[in-house]
Amino acid sequence: MSVTVVGSLNEDVLITVDRLPGRGETVIGSTSATAPGGKGANQAAAAGRLGPGVHMIGRVGDDPAGARMQAALAECRVNVSRVHRTAGVPTGSATIPVESGSGENLIVVVPGANAALTPEDVDVAPVHRADVLLLQLEVPMATVTAAAGVAGGIVVLNPAPPAPLPAELLERIDVLVPNEHELAALAGVPDTERSPAETADLARGLAGRRTAVVVTLGARGAVVVPSDGGPALLQPPPPTTPVDTTGAGDCFCGALCQALSRGQSLPDAVRYAVTAAALSTTGAGARGALPANRDVQAALGTTPAARPL
Ligand code: RIB
Ligand code: NA
Repeated sequence: MSVTVVGSLNEDVLITVDRLPGRGETVIGSTSATAPGGKGANQAAAAGRLGPGVHMIGRVGDDPAGARMQAALAECRVNVSRVHRTAGVPTGSATIPVESGSGENLIVVVPGANAALTPEDVDVAPVHRADVLLLQLEVPMATVTAAAGVAGGIVVLNPAPPAPLPAELLERIDVLVPNEHELAALAGVPDTERSPAETADLARGLAGRRTAVVVTLGARGAVVVPSDGGPALLQPPPPTTPVDTTGAGDCFCGALCQALSRGQSLPDAVRYAVTAAALSTTGAGARGALPANRDVQAALGTTPAARPL
């Protein structure tokens, strides 16, 4: 029952807006607040809230934000002994306007210390020995590829933000977890509206003998395409009212890995993750409403059954 996350830590600046700005447009925000973020750290925080045995490997700057990011993760029961302070670079940061009506957002990330995470940093026992290794793409691709190469357990990749995946990395992935935009980018097709069945067809092109694909669909839940060519499933979420969807995909990934580390099947782990992610949207910021295991267990009864596509 161990999950190791290799990835980014950022300090987020969350800005409430009535409407997200378009290209070249100025809008007036109503509130501004900082909060802990970074896809890697958010995923570790979600997994840590849900159960024990979570390690984070990453880099922050030798600045007050770095200390805040370490402390915020430790509060979520994440082992941060391998979150290194790096002299001479700032802690990563992200600017995130959030639309008040819908809870939808835009994100601009400045990597800072995250760009200094090396392949040597990840050739360590928590990566070799973890039951599940969870990766994203906010740290250098060479480091992500190296981590997958030395992992001893299940390897899960959230390809965010999307980038071309080296074959050497892709062949090491057991579960690929893109959202619809990331799936379109990886498949090299236009990012248009798709039905869940069309999404499953597209995801089948990325699945392989080893690799299953789980596509997160926001309010519509997630599509599961198994590695064995079996039927795809749509797992709808439980009914919730979103306040802020920032980090919902991160909560999904952390919860999925926590469930997989307990030995759950992929469909059961997806059901657990869809439920946890829905609960996480009911609070502000990426970590404002991360659920505990008992919260997810209580809400699972309201999560509809998965259906074949
Ligand atoms: O997925 C949400 C996260 O993306 C934010 O916390 C931000 O830091 C960026 O990494
Ligand atoms: Na949230």
